[in-house]
Amino acid sequence: MKIEDVKKICVVGAGNMGHQIALSAALAGYQVSCTDISQEMLNKAEAFARTYLPERVAKGKLTQGQANQVMMNISFTQNLEEAAGDADFVIEAAVEKMDIKRKLFADLDRIAPPHAILATNSSFIVSSKIADATKRPDKVCNMHFFNPALVMKLVEVVQGPHTSTETAQVTMDLCAKLGKSGAWLKKEIYGFLVNRILSALHQEALFLADMGIATPEEIDMAVTNALGHPMGPFRLMDFTGIDLSYYIGMEHYQETRDPKDKPSPLIVEKFVKGEWGKKTKKGFYSYE
Ligand code: 3HC
Repeated sequence: MKIEDVKKICVVGAGNMGHQIALSAALAGYQVSCTDISQEMLNKAEAFARTYLPERVAKGKLTQGQANQVMMNISFTQNLEEAAGDADFVIEAAVEKMDIKRKLFADLDRIAPPHAILATNSSFIVSSKIADATKRPDKVCNMHFFNPALVMKLVEVVQGPHTSTETAQVTMDLCAKLGKSGAWLKKEIYGFLVNRILSALHQEALFLADMGIATPEEIDMAVTNALGHPMGPFRLMDFTGIDLSYYIGMEHYQETRDPKDKPSPLIVEKFVKGEWGKKTKKGFYSYE
């Protein structure tokens, strides 16, 4: 398959990442079907598009005609068959749980046309943990976007031992079509490039806060002012979702059984309280 053969993209999951990945693809001129098991999430995703596009028009970044075309390019449905049945490229952006991803990939393998590439936007899980749930492992790879996906330029494309070079190449070409810089990792590694670096920073920040050395606010202030990061680690965890940090830690611990891979006590506390960051209006900060 070549990039020119990609006409329709299906994005599975309308959450934090999925709704913006879907909109990025529609903005790039692709037919996009965004699907989720939750109608509420789909409604939110559609409402976001209906607010975001007029804002872009008002800012002079899009014409009204382009914005109208984007809304015609994108559809939202709970029906996976309808969304993926005629897709040439599927990007899975569902919850970070291995069993759910494996079940989804088995379903997508049954539903999507045989030529379709099935990519996962997983933050940490390499696609070889999922590819064997399908009969097309050569067409399975990681395509990892960053939050907010409409803004952040990098996408990591990870080629597993099962992934054909053609699949990785088409995925890299798709990054370019979406206006992103693709980083092609030719070997799999848990967490890829960026999240390995970021999680080292977050682990240390959580350790310092857990030890009472400084508060999350003080640590964020130090990191933004000393390292020039746009957000400190705690504000960023609120932004990407403390539930995500928790699930990632638990998935990793279940695999390694190494206690150092468990989510930190602060993350567990916030997760249990339902204080998952911006999406629940409270995390390390309050967003009322
Ligand atoms: N969604 C879409 N667009 C957004 C946005 C959002 N949530 N927030 C801001 N933007 C856009 C604005 O529309 C604006 O666009 P324009 O310049 O074309 O008009 C541009 O971003 C700048 O917006 P603002 O001036 O309002 O805000 P900031 O300059 O403070 O930027 C930010 C906001 C881009 C979120 C910036 O704070 C930032 O870069 N933060 C760090 C984000 C980061 O580190 N992301 C990676 C997280 S790790 C990850 O995603 C891994 C995954 O596996 C979890």
